[in-house]
Amino acid sequence: MTILTIVGARPQFIKCAPVSREIRKHFKEVILHTGQHYDYNMSQGFFDELAIPEPDYNLGIGSNTHGAQTGLMLIEIEKVLLREKPDLVLIYGDTNSTLAGALAASKLHLPVAHIEAGLRSFNRKMPEEINRIVADKLSRFMFVPTQTAVRNLVREGQTDGVYNVGDVMFDSFLFNLSRLDQTKVLKKFQLQPKEFILATVHRPQNTDNPNVLKELISALEHLHEPTIFPIHPRTRNLMEKYNIQVHADSVRLVEPVSYQEMIALEKNARVILTDSGGVQKEAYFAGVTAIVLRGETEWVELVENGWAFLIGDDFQKLSGLLSRRIEKKPSSKSLFGDGQASRKIVSVLSTEM
Ligand code: UD1
Ligand code: UDP
Repeated sequence: MTILTIVGARPQFIKCAPVSREIRKHFKEVILHTGQHYDYNMSQGFFDELAIPEPDYNLGIGSNTHGAQTGLMLIEIEKVLLREKPDLVLIYGDTNSTLAGALAASKLHLPVAHIEAGLRSFNRKMPEEINRIVADKLSRFMFVPTQTAVRNLVREGQTDGVYNVGDVMFDSFLFNLSRLDQTKVLKKFQLQPKEFILATVHRPQNTDNPNVLKELISALEHLHEPTIFPIHPRTRNLMEKYNIQVHADSVRLVEPVSYQEMIALEKNARVILTDSGGVQKEAYFAGVTAIVLRGETEWVELVENGWAFLIGDDFQKLSGLLSRRIEKKPSSKSLFGDGQASRKIVSVLSTEM
């Protein structure tokens, strides 16, 4: 059986690393990279660090408006699918690369497997929400990470082909945590364990309006606490465009870091401020509280269990929250499976295909 894997954006490289490793023990895999992310530290760096096999195809689509980016992907993915004739197309998460993969494959009557299926924010202004809904509707296999995701699909009438296997990001986190030197990473960034804040921001609702972005940066400065902020290129570009600068020495903007550096920073942060989906979960894997710079989350179990606090764009709440003791003791119960999601996915495909 040949599986054609479609990836394109940073979190998809991280998700596909453990799954690819497992797939290749049993099946032939062809990797297609849409080129949605292309800077070395947003793309190739992860292939090198995580030993992901080089993509067989890189479409080089790059950045564009949603319609143009997705449309160009559709045209090019279709050509590859017609040439490779895979038995299954594998898509991850909720980006425009996910959507284009689902559409191109299902129009050619190729079965689609969606990893990280069933998530909903119930906010259709998020491009990811549209991408997820369409991807799930078109998928024959929906590999979901949580019981909440199962419920979301059932509510939408999707019960066949749903498998709660846990979260492949947990597989990735465990695999890499055991292989990295945390002290070396802290030394590189001149940080002391539990004496800094880690921040990431890239959602359009926080970056695209200059007033919101300015207020967010100013709120970080007013915390007066060492803050390391690996900056997503979207955010960097918009800060340049709007001429927003960081004045406080406590807030250190750095280029996007590697995955292993990122999980070392997560593990040692006092608290994590983020609007990222993946980083919210990794905060929990690392046993660190996340303050989520969004009004809602797909990962509701984090909020229900006191691991994440949603503050939307009310950034004034930050200093009050941070002055409280918000550290939690990790519980033995895992909210995202047992770190064996990749193996379970491949096992389902082996029996069901
Ligand atoms: C995309 C996904 C989002 C995901 C995120 C992960 C969609 C709609 N959005 O958002 O779900 O959470 O990736 O990081 O698919 N840019 C560069 N270099 C790069 C990549 C991007 O400079 O290598 C800049 C460009 O200015 C580009 C902007 O970042 O216009 C946004 O990139 P894009 O891929 O469109 O969306 P993300 O915000 O990265
Ligand atoms: N990440 C990384 N370097 C960084 C920032 C994030 O390796 O500088 C990793 C992070 O550990 C997580 C993933 O990127 O695994 C999250 O991706 P992102 O926040 O871009 O997207 P989202 O998860 O919100 O879709």
